[in-house]
Amino acid sequence: TTVRPINWVLNETSYTRLCSSKNILTVNGLFPGPTLYVRKGDRLTVNVQNQGKYNVTIHWHGVKQPRNPWSDGPNYITQCPIKPGANFTYEILFSTEEGTLWWHAHSDWSRATVHGPIVVYPEIGTSYPFPKPDAEFPIVLASWFKGDVMKIIESALEGGGETNKSDALTINGQPGDLYNCSKPGTFKILVNSGKTYLLRVINSIMNEEVFFAVAKHNFTVVGMDGAYIQPIKTNYIFITPGQTMDILMTTNSSQSRYYMAARAYVAVVYDNTTTTAIVEYINGSKNSTPAFPSNLPNYTDINAVTNFTKRIKALANDDYQINVPQKVDTNLFVTISVGSIPCPNDSCDGPNGSRLAASLNNVSFEEPAVDLLQAYYRQIGGIFTTDFPNVPPYFFNFTADEMPDNVLIPSTGTKVKVLEYNSNVEIVFQGTNVLSAAENHPMHLHGFSFYHVGSGFGNFDNSTDPKGYNLVDPPEINTVGVPKNGWAAIRFKADNPGVWFMHCHLERHSSWGMDMAFIVKNGSTRSTSIRRPPRYLNPC
Ligand code: C2O
Ligand code: CU
Repeated sequence: TTVRPINWVLNETSYTRLCSSKNILTVNGLFPGPTLYVRKGDRLTVNVQNQGKYNVTIHWHGVKQPRNPWSDGPNYITQCPIKPGANFTYEILFSTEEGTLWWHAHSDWSRATVHGPIVVYPEIGTSYPFPKPDAEFPIVLASWFKGDVMKIIESALEGGGETNKSDALTINGQPGDLYNCSKPGTFKILVNSGKTYLLRVINSIMNEEVFFAVAKHNFTVVGMDGAYIQPIKTNYIFITPGQTMDILMTTNSSQSRYYMAARAYVAVVYDNTTTTAIVEYINGSKNSTPAFPSNLPNYTDINAVTNFTKRIKALANDDYQINVPQKVDTNLFVTISVGSIPCPNDSCDGPNGSRLAASLNNVSFEEPAVDLLQAYYRQIGGIFTTDFPNVPPYFFNFTADEMPDNVLIPSTGTKVKVLEYNSNVEIVFQGTNVLSAAENHPMHLHGFSFYHVGSGFGNFDNSTDPKGYNLVDPPEINTVGVPKNGWAAIRFKADNPGVWFMHCHLERHSSWGMDMAFIVKNGSTRSTSIRRPPRYLNPC
């Protein structure tokens, strides 16, 4: 079904948080932005008018957009930016997704404030694979920076250290009671006793993975990244930036007030702050201090991460069929590193005038001057090269205490990997350690959901680890948390022709070059080829 077109105006709007006001870029004045409601298989157009002061693009995170990379959104990958005063009409094609996804700006760091939920309901005549909840709430986790996010990215690009921590994490735009002067605005949901609520949790945080829990309430997690999973009963979740989770929560505790809380998980001490909102029983006492979730894991609790993550499995039955590639045509082994590169005249703030740089297979991605999609479609030369390597240039003990010096200095370039139409692809992401400060990396792929077939700690071992893969019911997701000092393996069928970005969803790593792109070739017919471009494309 074609849904009624939506018009968005992006403009600067003044918001006050943590006792200080600033102008932030918003959609229609809202922070977080508006929720899009569609049904599975719908087609939706969103006209975006940029009345802000920076270039911007919008991405529909987790929407596969079959054959339609033109509306995917990443800046200089599938389009050139919508400049101030200009506009662009996105045509969003929903296909197999069902559940919660989200949208966000995909240019510089604008996504800090420009983001919101996408709710994909089942098709008419079908229903959830669980009892219909009594009500639902989107829960958008995000970051608040007192300063100008555009300044923060500038310094992140010149800097030699971790300079860009946010000032608060937020739930639906609010830092919550535990932060300075945030109490009056704390987000609150009102519930009735004995009901079941669907929480649609989105991790839109810029740089932190989080644990999330509600005091004295258990969760049943039923969906992730726009697909159903086998129900998981738990009293907390772990969610990495880019991911979404659908959670059922039954209000069977005594009628009172409870905190829901999200706390950063940090392997290295980076930002261990906690944001809260309130779950309030309508007929409960109002004046009590809410109970805090004692089940919320501590910020370094790596076992809590693994124990939750390993339970996630796809819902696979007659109604929900999945199709995991059992054999592989193209294997990639991709190392993920943070190092540093020299700056002209040693002008940056890092050691010896260098700056931090991040890389995949030791290539630090450079943004092209013309978007890759247009360069590919119109065969404009000199924009990218097709030599993204299948393996890293050096094999070493990836997860040992220190990386060798040659790996600390990546090469730079705009390199893509070309995939044959319908080929089965496996990527093993291998984390590496820099200065004993490795961390998790949420790797996100545009244009696809992939199967997360395996994960482990240490160095991937090709002779034994594939034997442990789950090729039966692995979760079908769009963002995988590659464990600190470990690896994660994914598989997908390259059945979506186009140009598709892949990157770490920690914003500072992506800005530092932890990115690459795939070109998936056309099939042999028109209906297996990239669609025609829209009549209007934003000029570069
Ligand atoms: Cu959620 Cu490339 O993005
Ligand atoms: Cu990363």
